[in-house]
Amino acid sequence: MSSKVECAKPADFLGIAALDRISWEGSGSQFIPDGEHVWRVWCEYATVLVIRSARELPETGDIAAALVMFPTERHEQFLHKIMVHPECRGQGLGTELMQAGLQRATVPVLLTVNPENQAAIRVYEKSGYRIRERVDGYYRSHEHRYIMEHPGNGS
Ligand SMILES: CC(C)(COP(=O)(O)OP(=O)(O)OC[C@H]1O[C@@H](n2cnc3c(N)ncnc32)[C@H](O)[C@@H]1OP(=O)(O)O)[C@@H](O)C(=O)NCCC(=O)NCCS
Repeated sequence: MSSKVECAKPADFLGIAALDRISWEGSGSQFIPDGEHVWRVWCEYATVLVIRSARELPETGDIAAALVMFPTERHEQFLHKIMVHPECRGQGLGTELMQAGLQRATVPVLLTVNPENQAAIRVYEKSGYRIRERVDGYYRSHEHRYIMEHPGNGS
């Protein structure tokens, strides 16, 4: 496994969208992944970072991990998603990808996370995020989220 983080290319959108479809199995909720078209747009106009696999992975081709973040209208970055292929988890890829995203952030970074997603919260807390608030029913009524924030690396 190569663990070099790189910027996604527009042609990566199908592999990343596939990763989005398989990343949430077993999460216990009816999670709705983002669609292929928005991944196409993000790959060109947002910050999308990927880690590639040297071997072909089920569903995603060479995409082992991906992250997307974009600026908000409040002088922040919003880190919308970070996902590691189920066959590649627990090897530090999520942490490495998060570090690469934070290195690019000169403003505070926000994200939301399911309060039951212990693996994600672990990665976020060890990367320097803190919980700002809990919002019950953030999406549908049963989909609660912590809002977490990182100060960014601009100061
Ligand atoms: C969250 C996710 C990105 C982490 O990726 P990863 O490559 O496995 O992460 P890392 O290997 O860098 O670190 C995982 C950490 O979580 C810990 N962890 C794993 N499962 C855990 C669990 N059930 N409870 C608590 N901690 C857990 C690991 O021990 C490790 O911490 P450590 O380094 O202190 O030992 C990955 O699990 C994933 O893609 N999940 C599905 C999608 C998702 O939930 N994304 C986040 C919300 S957008």
